[in-house]
Amino acid sequence: MARRAPTYACQSCGAVYGRWQGRCDACGGWNTIAEEASAPPMPGGSAAQVARGPRGKGRIFPLEGLTGGEAEAPRVASGIAELDRVTGGGFVKGSVILLGGDPGIGKSTLLMQACAALGGRGHRVVYISGEEATGQVRLRAERLGLSQAPVELAAETSVEDIIATLSHGAPPRLVVIDSIQTMWTEAVEAAPGTVTQVRGSAQALIRYAKTSGAALILVGHVTKDGQIAGPRVVEHMVDAVASFEGDGAHHFRILRAVKNRFGPTDEIGVFEMTGMGLAEVANPSALFLQGRDTASPGTAVFAGMEGTRPLLVEFQALVAPTSLGTPRRAVVGWEPSRLSMVIAVLEAHAGLKLGQHDVYLNVAGGLRITEPAADMAAAAALISSLAGTPLPPDRVYMGEIGLTGALRPVSQTAARLKEAAKLGFASALAPKAGREAAGSPPIRLEGAADLADLVAGIAAGHRKPRVQGA
Ligand code: TYD
Ligand code: MG
Repeated sequence: MARRAPTYACQSCGAVYGRWQGRCDACGGWNTIAEEASAPPMPGGSAAQVARGPRGKGRIFPLEGLTGGEAEAPRVASGIAELDRVTGGGFVKGSVILLGGDPGIGKSTLLMQACAALGGRGHRVVYISGEEATGQVRLRAERLGLSQAPVELAAETSVEDIIATLSHGAPPRLVVIDSIQTMWTEAVEAAPGTVTQVRGSAQALIRYAKTSGAALILVGHVTKDGQIAGPRVVEHMVDAVASFEGDGAHHFRILRAVKNRFGPTDEIGVFEMTGMGLAEVANPSALFLQGRDTASPGTAVFAGMEGTRPLLVEFQALVAPTSLGTPRRAVVGWEPSRLSMVIAVLEAHAGLKLGQHDVYLNVAGGLRITEPAADMAAAAALISSLAGTPLPPDRVYMGEIGLTGALRPVSQTAARLKEAAKLGFASALAPKAGREAAGSPPIRLEGAADLADLVAGIAAGHRKPRVQGA
């Protein structure tokens, strides 16, 4: 057999190279490439050679039809509504979830609470910590008031030992591995924490989950740029990827599904970090609109949807004359490319001049909005700031802006309006085109025909001569 040449793998994205280099071409990371033991050579050549495989003859297995088998993936709900919403109604038997998030955001706290909830419902639950000693995990549970919860605990990092232990007795319904980066398997010759180890460990644990039917949650660390470090490779192997987000300045945390083979990916779960752990936030709109400054120009409330749940958030804009050659555009909580587009359309179709102005846009509360329906709220906030006119404080905005300056209606208008009514808003401004879809709205629904109409309505302040009433 030919001598195995060493391979070099990027520790951040998993790209493999034949020789060492300082910068990874795939992810652009510096000094992330390290030598690793290479995998055994793949059998090549003829089909017969491939069938023999590296270890000799391949096993013949029966093929099955699409009909038959289990009709629906059986789920086990945690009873924590915000968590179950994101998983799609509970943890699916034998499924694997990768949970990513910044250090200290509350992943261990969330999972301990989920374990306790499931344990309390009579399921066998195992929590394996590779980062903390059992004493530390117990301390956290005590702080959460969960020290009596029936959760089996261990501080272990050897994948072989973990699987041997778990295979003993009745298979657990849920296994938490905190975190996958601390795990190591004897199956691969590489230092713990390397991509090869993470991949090998994840593979073994996933195989265990699939054969035993236990739901498995792998915790993954996140790098500064928001990627799940190292286990990017793991993302493709698991059934669902969820990220736990939030920033240091706020107490609330958002659980978001990035990928989900067994459920939706647009749902979010909202939690608040309290002294007693994570509390569910049943009415996030009220939370995100807290402390709103309604008298100042440059703020507009967006009636958004996150999955099946309506969510009201405030867009804040500051448009100020620039002292720089190239004006600044900064945005937090929204896509910068989307802001550039809205600015370009406002300049081209509504006659606004922003070339000599810095533009800052912020989604209050640290939420990240991805819906195109937020265009009109962002535009309204920008126009209001530029004109120095506050918008009506009891109005919400929704609608997508096209490159031609046309306004496009949004989906689920009725749900958005209902939420706005619930929070005491009196009117909504939406594209004129889609108003019929709303049926009989619970609040006044006003229609803007196009972008010029929107600008004129705001510039005219509260007199609103060109924005047609309902
Ligand atoms: P942790 O779950 O350890 O985060 P992760 O596993 O994502 O690294 O949570 C750590 C932070 O949460 C820590 O700064 C303290 C805070 N915290 C609370 O505010 N209240 C609590 O009840 C708990 C358990 C933690
Ligand atoms: Mg932790």
